[in-house]
Amino acid sequence: MKQDMIVILDLGSTENTVVARQIRSLGVYSEIHPHDITVAELNQLDNVKGIILNGGENRMVDGASVVVLDELYSLDIPVISIDYPESKCEVKYNTLPSDEEMKAFLFNDCKAEANWNMKNFVEDQIELVRKQVGDKKVLLALSGGVDSSVVAALLIKAIGKQLTCVHVNHGLMRKNESENVIEVFGNQLDANLVYIDATDRFLGKLEGVAEPEEKRKIIGSEFIRVFEEEARKLEGIEFLGQGTIYPDIIESGTKTAKCVKSHHNVGGLPEDLQFALVEPLAQLFKDEVRACGVELGLPAEMVYRQPFPGPGLGVRCLGAITRDRLEALRESDAILREEFAKTGLDKKVWQYFTVVPDFKAVGVRNHERSMGYMVVIRAVNTIDAMTASIERIDYDILENICARITAEVPSVSRVCYEITPKPVATIEFE
Ligand code: XMP
Repeated sequence: MKQDMIVILDLGSTENTVVARQIRSLGVYSEIHPHDITVAELNQLDNVKGIILNGGENRMVDGASVVVLDELYSLDIPVISIDYPESKCEVKYNTLPSDEEMKAFLFNDCKAEANWNMKNFVEDQIELVRKQVGDKKVLLALSGGVDSSVVAALLIKAIGKQLTCVHVNHGLMRKNESENVIEVFGNQLDANLVYIDATDRFLGKLEGVAEPEEKRKIIGSEFIRVFEEEARKLEGIEFLGQGTIYPDIIESGTKTAKCVKSHHNVGGLPEDLQFALVEPLAQLFKDEVRACGVELGLPAEMVYRQPFPGPGLGVRCLGAITRDRLEALRESDAILREEFAKTGLDKKVWQYFTVVPDFKAVGVRNHERSMGYMVVIRAVNTIDAMTASIERIDYDILENICARITAEVPSVSRVCYEITPKPVATIEFE
């Protein structure tokens, strides 16, 4: 390992990640580990320079209070505690240390080096992946989202053709997305890429299905089935690569924290397809994953792309999906994205997309009455997607987008701008 590390022991604090981020922001790598870590486990981690016992008010698990093993205090590694008045440390903080206090601990007491950067992280992870995988084969579901793209790029660097990426096009991708995955991973990075165009299969299963949760269920389970079929065709796969990132792990619950939501990147594979997991991004926060992607040379539009729901355009083509409405949705969304990129709004707005409801509205084309679809524009800003406010897009920009959509997508007769914040609305329409 190239990087020095500070280990934070989780005693139930809700602020473990705040401490981890503070330490990383000061240039030192840090990881959060369970409170009952043993000395042997600690020795497995390379380059541990210091330990922080991070208390908090929940220091109980299943009715028993949470304590750390006594031998941790007698190692040759400096230990401090935060919000843990009984701790046996000499240096105890009641609240989060200031940056100056933390710097003193990191650089004076622990003699850590500020060598946490993406270049070192990538080199470390390549070494760890090679050690874990040996000469075995790894399979990865590559959706083209930020996390799976970055993990793919890292694994290609680490193990090259021992990795097989499977990209399933469910027919609900945005314009040119699958083409970009093929171009970047198949052509530029020369990966083993299996491309499956499952458009007809997904749209067939979704035919006539209008209920949003039912649509989501079909898309999710069909995805697993297609992926499973491909996995069975490939021989000798022992590992499954996953773009798990740190927030996924936190939300899935730790020994001291309750599960917020269970996390499945590729959940639900059958019992007999059990793989060991390779998760090189599991310690990274989202902004660090993007920085890792940049370090690996991925294109900016892939690394900085806006969030896109797993069910894709399926939940934006409202009600029962039809091919012509899906086409209107895909084309109008592409125009919106182009215009946002031209005006710089793509760098400012958190999420923006179009939606096509399942009805037609009257319009006039070539002096004749004609019925057409309605395109709704949604553009929102948020920190955590729990609440969101709308972006106040300039009217000239909106009118230009409207003019382009109605000119270039003949099946559309109207364009609307949606102005409801979350709550009362949600970000998506379904
Ligand atoms: P809502 O509509 O709940 O959206 O305000 C909040 C954020 O979650 C995304 N979203 C999804 N992402 N699968 C996903 O992977 C889904 O089924 C799904 N539904 C909503 C949405 O795009 C927004 O960023």
